[in-house]
Amino acid sequence: MTLPRIEATEIPTYRPRALKALARRIARTITRYPYFTVVSGFDTVANEEEIKALAGMLGTLGGGAKQTQPPLSFTRVTVNPEAVRRTRKATAYSRTHLPISPHTDSSYLPEPHDLVAFQCVVADTGGGENAMVAVTDVLSCLDHGDIKRLRQPVFPFSRGYFPVLEGEGAETTIRYYRTQIDQAVLDGASLSEDDRALLGRLDDVLAHRAQAFTFKLEEGEAVFFANQKVLHARTGFTADSNRTLFRVRHTVDLKRAAAGGLKSWLSGLRAKPDTAPVRRDPVHDLRDQVAESPDDPLLVRRLSTILASRGAFSEAAVWNQKALALAPTAYDNLVLKSCLRWEEGDREGAQEALRQLAEHHPFEFPRRADPAGPNILRVRGMKNVKYQLRTKARGFEPSLEGGHFSVSNFLRDRRYNVWLHNIYDTPAEWPGDRPAPDLVLNTIACADRMTDSLKALSKFLAAWPGVPVINHPDKVLQTTREQNCRRLGAIDGVVFPKTERVHWDGGDTGSMVSAITERGFSYPLVLRPVETHTGVEVALAADAEAVKSYFGEARAGRDYYFIQYHDLSDERGFFRKSRTFCIDGQFHPVASLVHNDWNVHSGDRYSVMVDSEELQASEQAYLKDFEGWLGPDNVARLEEVRKLIGLDFFGIDFCKLDDGRLFIFECNAAMRHNYDHAGAFPYTEPYLDRVSDAFDAMLTARTGPVAHEWMKLSQRAARF
Ligand SMILES: [Fe+2]
Repeated sequence: MTLPRIEATEIPTYRPRALKALARRIARTITRYPYFTVVSGFDTVANEEEIKALAGMLGTLGGGAKQTQPPLSFTRVTVNPEAVRRTRKATAYSRTHLPISPHTDSSYLPEPHDLVAFQCVVADTGGGENAMVAVTDVLSCLDHGDIKRLRQPVFPFSRGYFPVLEGEGAETTIRYYRTQIDQAVLDGASLSEDDRALLGRLDDVLAHRAQAFTFKLEEGEAVFFANQKVLHARTGFTADSNRTLFRVRHTVDLKRAAAGGLKSWLSGLRAKPDTAPVRRDPVHDLRDQVAESPDDPLLVRRLSTILASRGAFSEAAVWNQKALALAPTAYDNLVLKSCLRWEEGDREGAQEALRQLAEHHPFEFPRRADPAGPNILRVRGMKNVKYQLRTKARGFEPSLEGGHFSVSNFLRDRRYNVWLHNIYDTPAEWPGDRPAPDLVLNTIACADRMTDSLKALSKFLAAWPGVPVINHPDKVLQTTREQNCRRLGAIDGVVFPKTERVHWDGGDTGSMVSAITERGFSYPLVLRPVETHTGVEVALAADAEAVKSYFGEARAGRDYYFIQYHDLSDERGFFRKSRTFCIDGQFHPVASLVHNDWNVHSGDRYSVMVDSEELQASEQAYLKDFEGWLGPDNVARLEEVRKLIGLDFFGIDFCKLDDGRLFIFECNAAMRHNYDHAGAFPYTEPYLDRVSDAFDAMLTARTGPVAHEWMKLSQRAARF
């Protein structure tokens, strides 16, 4: 069979009807055997808008039932051995030069993406060939028994057990990624000997069938495929290759996208390239304008921002520098500078840009304020945090990371005038022509990481003794792990693991082994840098050798924690971690997670909980009757914790010990309130809503009678 191909002369990004016709043609092709097509006509000058526009259009055509699905994900794939060393994830393989056997992208998701596309930006001269294997060919080469077994949800992927084959007859879909299954087994997932042998047979079929559809993408070509109908593979290439691909993944109802009627097909035909108005890429126009007025800071700023949003980081850095030369204190350019320096690996440069940001822009006020709305001063710390470029709906955008709690589900901005305060390590001067705010909302949450910004904020707030503050910095400062260990551990019936802070200067790793013994820790123990809250760089060290190897690789010149490990697994080897938020003095249950590893995070819901009704029922019991689940003694203990911590918003991660006591893992404000898993675990949603509502009620209560009057007015207005 010949390779399915669609030869386009260009990708009509700015002509919606022509774009729609092309997208529909792609959808028609990839919903039929062999479920992929090569598409030519892409701009080889690395313009990522084209593939995004095409995939986006497929999403629009296939909208409807799946319209609430997440936006498309875009990645620029280059060889990056560093990233691979940092993570063991199977997905990191796409960043290597090694061959990858036939697989499904995002195979670990409850539902893998429907559409995946790769655009070749820089081809490799050596290898990097693609191969595709359609589900139909897999079915025709396996016997009935094997197919039946592959339909069972017994194959471990990184976030749960799934069947390899789903659906019946022509509707059969496939999900497979051998590397990921092997990694899951290494991490403790189960896979029987028979199933392992079955996967061996499947691998043989794939290796054989992969020879049928092999091709190499040229620059300016892309391959689009139905990710659940066809597996894709690629050969290896040289390690120092500058091979670059754009990858797009999207949730699209492909059948629906393919099913346009005659009318839409005709209208697609009618959209002729020469007659339709052609809009140029705004970057081209901007470049022309900048060439004409090279000293216009606004134009140069726009060019640098748009280049960064498209992932052209090195070019963006050049223009951003020019923009800063014209306007050295421009807000957006300082943020972008910090992001781009971080991208280059220049931590100091990234930090210095944030220091300048706080120096030149300590306060930001919205241009249009509601005179009746309460004024909230939202505080962010700039020291020891990072701004990174993250892919969002409109390309790469700066995102502040670390040290804070997120207000995205807490602050219903429209009701308030939100003023922003960026603080580094010295208190800023409040502008004399402004009244004090009605409320200060301190979102700086990590006492270990944000010490200097918190201290500076404390000094700053001394001038406003009458203004209410949510999470006063003095109280946040007392929630380091070390102080929590001392203060919370002293409560009768509460166990807080022994925690001590040590400095690692990069010398002899044996000194850390001695420190462990001298300070009375025993093996195994947990090692982690003081400033991280996620699982990054956290290790469970079983013996002195493990400690040496941890510090052998750890970044020197910063502080680390020794934390005494307690084995809290049950007879099945499961670990439980429950979370509650405390908002304005009231506890609200958030989650009760069970995982087969000691270090439990919210994403681990997809390992054992996702398939277990029993474990989900136990979480529901926790959410439904929080106090009953805790028992009166533990309710009283949490009350003690609340009084000691004294914050308006904070969270507690804990579990109940067999003897009934309370074991606390963490207790601080650096916990994110989110709905990330409410889709897969819908019973959690009402409880998450209560958390959002409680925070909102706290803001309303603290912003005083003005707010109440204003609320009443707006509610009355809404009725008419
Ligand atoms: Fe892939």
